[in-house]
Amino acid sequence: MNQAELLRILASRDQKKKSTQSLFEQRLATNLSLINTQFFSLYQEKEHKTYFLTLLETLETLFKTRPKELQNQDIDRLNAGNWYQSEQMVGMQMYVDRFNKDINGLKEKLPYFEDLGINFLHLMPITTRPAGENDGGYAVNSYHEIDSKYGTKTDFLDFTKKARKNDMFIMLDFVVNHTSDEFEWAQKAKEGNLHYQNYYYTYSDRHIPDEFEKTLPEIFPQSAPGNFTYNDEMEKWVMTCFNTYQWDLNYRNPEVFIEMLSNLVGLANLGVDVIRFDALAFLWKKLGTLSQNLPEAHTLISLFRLCLQVVAPGVILLAEAIVAPRNIIKYFGEGTLTGNECEVAYNASLMALLWNSIATKKASLLVKSVSEIPTKPQDATWVNYIRCHDDIGLGYDDDFVRAMGYDPTAHKQFILNYYCGKLEWSPAKGLMFMYNPKNGDGRITGSAASLLGLETALEQKNDKIVDYAITKILMMHGIILTYGGIPMIYAGDEIATLNDYSYEQNEDHINDNRWVNRPMQNWNIVAKIKTEKDSPSTTVYNGLKKMIRLRKEHTVFADTNNIKIHGCPNEHIFVFQRSHEDESVWVLSNFNEVTETINIGWLLSIGILTGKNSIDLLTGESIEFIQNELALKPYEQLWIKNI
Ligand code: GLC
Repeated sequence: MNQAELLRILASRDQKKKSTQSLFEQRLATNLSLINTQFFSLYQEKEHKTYFLTLLETLETLFKTRPKELQNQDIDRLNAGNWYQSEQMVGMQMYVDRFNKDINGLKEKLPYFEDLGINFLHLMPITTRPAGENDGGYAVNSYHEIDSKYGTKTDFLDFTKKARKNDMFIMLDFVVNHTSDEFEWAQKAKEGNLHYQNYYYTYSDRHIPDEFEKTLPEIFPQSAPGNFTYNDEMEKWVMTCFNTYQWDLNYRNPEVFIEMLSNLVGLANLGVDVIRFDALAFLWKKLGTLSQNLPEAHTLISLFRLCLQVVAPGVILLAEAIVAPRNIIKYFGEGTLTGNECEVAYNASLMALLWNSIATKKASLLVKSVSEIPTKPQDATWVNYIRCHDDIGLGYDDDFVRAMGYDPTAHKQFILNYYCGKLEWSPAKGLMFMYNPKNGDGRITGSAASLLGLETALEQKNDKIVDYAITKILMMHGIILTYGGIPMIYAGDEIATLNDYSYEQNEDHINDNRWVNRPMQNWNIVAKIKTEKDSPSTTVYNGLKKMIRLRKEHTVFADTNNIKIHGCPNEHIFVFQRSHEDESVWVLSNFNEVTETINIGWLLSIGILTGKNSIDLLTGESIEFIQNELALKPYEQLWIKNI
């Protein structure tokens, strides 16, 4: 039983008699010993004890700042169980300004979300940031002051209120690893204030930075090589693992933790339901290590979790850990902390493996890798996605790649070539991101539709490839909609948006080609959905809308770890089964560009009935066999259910 479940039991006992204040006290009492263990495992010096007392007072103060309406909602959420695992959850991610101008513009589009079936929005940073380069707002000047280009705090509070009324969930980022170099702590540090210099990793000479550099990888080797930046005003080096203007916070200082906890609660108090812990794998730095995924980072995250749970138990955390498959799962918490870290994590492994399957036309590495990932805790879930605002990293497990008979380095090179215009036969149109000649590593950028061949197909006016691209877009989304977890559609993908090359004309974006997949939402295309019945955008939109509706109609798609991956004898076909009580749906996807078949005997062996006894939910038709074989057309997907 994790802490959330304990708190649920407390909240449900004699509820009417209990005030939200007394429930807060019970939660504090319930979580206190774990908070104590986590805190002192990170902060072991004698003088740290006073900070622990400050933390306890802070929790009390923070609870008082939580609006009454949200305090009540917290109790309802606790009682609602694991709402985030429901089949009703379907998300969309967007830059508010690029989607529809500002917060009020977003509000105008609530009917659009409703039409498509979206009830969960990830809004990328909307708080103040430096003018010019700011990593799309991931360089924060403040944690809760809304940037005027998005509107005002009142606009946002009004928006979250409206969202709550419409049963819409909202997620915002908590940029927990770094602030911008204009953040008030950084300003004070630059003015020479030693107290605030200790909020960051600052050094007078290169001695320690050089030691760190021996093992720290580079995140942006082309645009921001190295992990330290010299600041002239401060006359010191400061750690900047991401861009030079993003200063890494020093969590070895307990004051930083306590202040950041207050910032976290401030964000939650805006009416946010899910908080995306940005770049959380980087939270703890240690000489001689990669300074990613360190045990202390996990301790720190669970400390945030346990404290937030005391103050705002209805708010949950999403781990943005784009790391190796066996490391991602650890962000749900391990050992005594199982289920007490983040409730949700990005399924970056599934995402990267799906792109591998498109390029290789085979599902084998995907099947092997996802079958070997340990089962996640019962109360956890994934965010499943194919694209987001970032690049695609090729985070495959080298051992599994070798087991497939490929050399990992050559294989990575093949995937990069496939997506980045180096293979004549490939329809994909992507760009190489942050190629590092030192180790041959590179990542991929590009919109889903362009990576899946639509841009090339339209240029070549090749109807067959256009059809293939559309089918691929739907097949990929069909997987994230049916695989256990919250599907997160990247805004624009629902209308098959192509690459946007205008970033090359923008001096703040030119050095970061992730902007090729950060287009403005094209409302002219949306307006034509009703009239242009056969355009790729219309077909994708209507196809997605239908799949979303079907997901919501079938409880098998709620995530209770009810997934079974089947290793299909045909290596081009990915097969998994979702079950609830005595109902099952099998999702079959053909990654090849030719028709592939599966023998009836194998289908029977995994429980699929034949003849008129099963249907494909997508078409409503029964499954046809020709000479005891089921045929899947190129990139075809079936959602089979026995009847
Ligand atoms: C996350 C964001 C990415 C940003 C980075 C640094 O990975 O998704 O866009 O560049 O954090 O904040």
